[in-house]
Amino acid sequence: MKRPVLTYMLALGSAFHSRTSEGCALNDDDVLVVHGGTPLKGEIRVRGAKNLVSKAMVAALLADSPSTLFDVPAISDVDIVRGLLELHGVRTSIDKDRSLRMDPTNVVTAGVDEINVHAGSSRIPILLCGPLLHRLGSAYIPDLGGCNIGGRPIDFHIDALRKFGAVVEKLPDGMHLTAPQRLQGIKYTLDYPSVGSTEQILLTAVMAEGVTELRNAAVEPEIIDLICILQKMGAIIKVNTDRVIEIEGVDRLSGYRHRPVPDRIETGSWAAAALATHGEVFVRGARQVDMMTFLNVYRTIGGAFDVDDSPGGGIRFWHPGGELSPAALETDVHPGLMTDWQQPLVVALTQARGLSIVHETVYERRFGYTAELRQMGANIQLYRDCLGGTPCRWGRRNFLHSAVIAGPSKLHAADLQIPDLRAGFSHLIAALAAEGTSRVFGVDRFITRGYEDFDAKLAGLGANVERP
Ligand code: EPZ
Repeated sequence: MKRPVLTYMLALGSAFHSRTSEGCALNDDDVLVVHGGTPLKGEIRVRGAKNLVSKAMVAALLADSPSTLFDVPAISDVDIVRGLLELHGVRTSIDKDRSLRMDPTNVVTAGVDEINVHAGSSRIPILLCGPLLHRLGSAYIPDLGGCNIGGRPIDFHIDALRKFGAVVEKLPDGMHLTAPQRLQGIKYTLDYPSVGSTEQILLTAVMAEGVTELRNAAVEPEIIDLICILQKMGAIIKVNTDRVIEIEGVDRLSGYRHRPVPDRIETGSWAAAALATHGEVFVRGARQVDMMTFLNVYRTIGGAFDVDDSPGGGIRFWHPGGELSPAALETDVHPGLMTDWQQPLVVALTQARGLSIVHETVYERRFGYTAELRQMGANIQLYRDCLGGTPCRWGRRNFLHSAVIAGPSKLHAADLQIPDLRAGFSHLIAALAAEGTSRVFGVDRFITRGYEDFDAKLAGLGANVERP
């Protein structure tokens, strides 16, 4: 922090923001009724990370033989990517133990109308560009979806693909790409270490001719795991110091067998839920090494954890009693604090005594969900300034991307409309921590995208929830 919190609060008091309704109709068929006030207690299991599994599935397209991905979560984002692969001729099957087999031996061009059925459903389709250009010489990508947490441009993706030699044409409903000749390795520096753009370049460079040098790459654990998969397939990728990745293109890649990194976002979500509800949750499958930044924050604000790193172990998270402490947090690219941990942690911070500050540096509009928390009694103010040590891209551009949370606040029940995936889970946490009966709308539309079996997991942890 460069300036004390109170100075900010006095100087910026007039910047208090109240979000107006975004006009989402409450849908009675897609609601979870939560009778709050019961501490979550028990055990849940996390599977492979959503943000690796979906990319690993795309990587399977590059191979000339089948791949098997283990421990695949039953979430709708996986179904979307599976649907897209099948449209392109990849034969897939999934076992009861959630092992996904993908056979890309006969990749074919898919119909535009069929692909457009997936328009707006996810951001993963953009990653099909490189693999389809290598396999078929052309690709059609539908308009993207994903959470409404910022502009989420794809300019880095398109710019890099063009430099590789792809011809990109924007169409009314999507994008058509061709590779008039074999794609060529490039030297590329990302303006920002974007996760998706790094993956795009990796998935394209592995079979491009020659060497690709990527500077300012993202190095999230899911990216390193994707690199491990590509290496198993036959790729040559060096991860150098200072976010530089060097990829030597190869002529062919074969299938892989891989057990993915566990979902560190889901782990953090349940950990925050344990804290906010004064509970105790053992997250089987969670790994310390992926969670180190989160664990530091958890301990700083008063949460307790215990790591069991025996095979089949996990991390136990609990509220040790007493008051939680406030914190000054900034989200960042890895190894910083993940932006996807921000929303669950903010709910926990509403229960800390004092002023907490959260500076969101990754996305410009990731505090919309706090309007509902305020409706429940939380004291949260949003600011356009960078309330943190790192001036970020959003401060100068007038986005409400810093939050000051004054706690502790007694949360009370409300009707909540989920705006996006991670915000949705934090609404659930708030409803579980609140007194009274809340209705959380949009759970099937949003939460199933990233949280396997969350109804059953909640029930198993003793939450008093029901479907009307
Ligand atoms: C991935 O999104 C994740 N999604 C996100 O998780 C996660 O929040 C994010 O990485 C950051 O960790 C998936 O893996 C499917 P980015 P991605 O490219 O790849 C800007 C969740 O809930 N940018 O790293 O789309 C962009 O606007 C989701 O699981 C450009 O400017 O994120 C953003 O400000 C939400 N131009 C920043 O980079 C580009 O061409 C980071 O985005 C691309 C990105």
